[in-house]
Amino acid sequence: MTPLSAVGLETFYGKSHVLHGVSIEVREGEIVALLGRNGAGKTTTLRSIMGLTPPREGSVRAFGQLVTGLPPFRVAALGVGYVPEGRKIFGNLTVDENLRAPADRPGPWTLARAYQAFPRLAERKANKGSQLSGGEQEMLAIARALLLNPKVLILDEPSQGLAPLIVEEVFRIVRRVREEGASVLLVEQNVRAAVALADRAYVLDDGKVIYEGAAKDFAADEARVRELAGASAETWDLGD
Ligand SMILES: Nc1ncnc2c1ncn2[C@@H]1O[C@H](COP(=O)(O)OP(=O)(O)OP(=O)(O)O)[C@@H](O)[C@H]1O
Ligand SMILES: [Mg+2]
Repeated sequence: MTPLSAVGLETFYGKSHVLHGVSIEVREGEIVALLGRNGAGKTTTLRSIMGLTPPREGSVRAFGQLVTGLPPFRVAALGVGYVPEGRKIFGNLTVDENLRAPADRPGPWTLARAYQAFPRLAERKANKGSQLSGGEQEMLAIARALLLNPKVLILDEPSQGLAPLIVEEVFRIVRRVREEGASVLLVEQNVRAAVALADRAYVLDDGKVIYEGAAKDFAADEARVRELAGASAETWDLGD
């Protein structure tokens, strides 16, 4: 069953028409990168899939089941893990409480393993979410999503605000999630790193898909990568 399939999404914020017929698919065992400039509609696409900003037209399927119009918790319950942009953790709960919050779904991720993957979180176990640094909050948000043992993991700019070494760690975890049989939909500003990691890539511009193809083909098109990556992403090299 295809983990995620969105077809012809037309999504609005009030009268503002943001997505124009966006179709994207995440197949079994794939890492898919969703790229595009600021304001292109990446987050809106993820919100449309999760049911946070339901599309006015178009359909979303998760593992074959039509989920368009369902509330986010119902989509999540099918095994869709979502790490939103800007780490929506519970500031008044401790790290440990944040990680114990999600409902248990059996699978490879346990609390002990999450602390092993993110030793920094183990050290701050008793600290409140609000006392964590931005990077630590991002790790907490990712760890929390992993504890749901999702069958498809959606990440909205997980590298934002993280030091390069931690980013490598996060990307290593993304690879591990896939090795354990889940699929990943990754929104990432760092174009080079994302296409090095992904199997396929989509590029959004102004609420439309303007490119869709194998990530390695995209990576080989230096002009296209440079156009999208801009100057800020040139400093990273996260190849294997
Ligand atoms: N809550 C909102 N109300 C109105 N307009 C919004 C809202 N959220 C986003 N938009 C607009 O929708 C468009 C797409 O935004 P979106 O957040 O999906 O972009 P993005 O590709 O995720 O950008 P970024 O890389 O900056 O995160 C932008 O023009 C943005 O200003
Ligand atoms: Mg965004």
